[in-house]
Amino acid sequence: MFDAAGGEYLSGEEISRRLGVSRTAVWKQIRRLKDAGYVFDASPKLGYRLAASVSALDTRRIAAQLRTVRFGRELTVLAKTDSTQTEAEKRAREGAPEGTLVVAEEQTSGRGRQGRVWHSPPGKGVWMSTVLRPEGPLTAVPQLTLLAAVAVCRAIRQVSGVEAGIKWPNDLLADGRKLCGILLEAVVEDGGVRHCIMGIGIDANLEESDYPEELRSKVTSLRRESGIEVDRSALIAAVMNEFETLYRLYAESGFEPVRLLWESLSVTLGREIVVRDVRGERRGWAHGLGGQGELMMRTEDGAVVPVYSGDIELYPKERE
Ligand code: BTN
Repeated sequence: MFDAAGGEYLSGEEISRRLGVSRTAVWKQIRRLKDAGYVFDASPKLGYRLAASVSALDTRRIAAQLRTVRFGRELTVLAKTDSTQTEAEKRAREGAPEGTLVVAEEQTSGRGRQGRVWHSPPGKGVWMSTVLRPEGPLTAVPQLTLLAAVAVCRAIRQVSGVEAGIKWPNDLLADGRKLCGILLEAVVEDGGVRHCIMGIGIDANLEESDYPEELRSKVTSLRRESGIEVDRSALIAAVMNEFETLYRLYAESGFEPVRLLWESLSVTLGREIVVRDVRGERRGWAHGLGGQGELMMRTEDGAVVPVYSGDIELYPKERE
């Protein structure tokens, strides 16, 4: 189906003749494919054709490009869900193994950090959640968030050629605008981490008109940056491949190699920043990443202080 994109129109009658099924059966199958995220050009005179510019997520294409042992091997692709975080969490509670991946074409209640809504329209983005079962304590979860940002940044660069950079802690930007967000939700039991759900939202093929007005100046997509439609299935597989490699490195060698990679991909370090957290608003310069994943900020009086959580704003100001 993917390879037929942009081909000739076929009338419903011709499809039913070629396949030896009724017109109603053809219509039902087209509806099912639409639900699964395929987009068709439909012409009353000519019939149907798969739109050239949009390809649906494809379980087999994702699986074929995995080089992992665990990550992405247990894979579900949904046409529509409220949030892949909720779906993956349900599976984790039922005992799903580490690396279990849930992907959706569309989310109706996608969620972001700090209770924000994550805009997740159908057919163009990468909305994915993975079950993690880390050995370490709850305090190590921020490190995993940074590890995820490094993995996604590397995957994006590989698959799309877009020079994405990381804004602390884990937003990915291109040209000063956000194109990916990462959300790690940990479920705690007896003081330890029972499991984590790593949610990744990448604006792969969204166009300006796909965003609500108020977001348009702040966001971008891989398609807008590169001018080329990104193969979302290849991108998902690349994220899993990169994540598994780094996660193994982290288990064997600790956070230091991840910290160095994060610093090399950062667009935060050296910049003037404003931090907004529970202590209010503070100004300074992003100096480096600490051993726990905290941002080290140099203040106006020269002191270097850690920032563990909250949001930062980069100066010169990010786009409005
Ligand atoms: C952020 O930058 O605020 C984090 C955004 C995380 C969005 C992803 S999309 C897949 C997964 N499902 C959700 O509901 N959220 C995450």
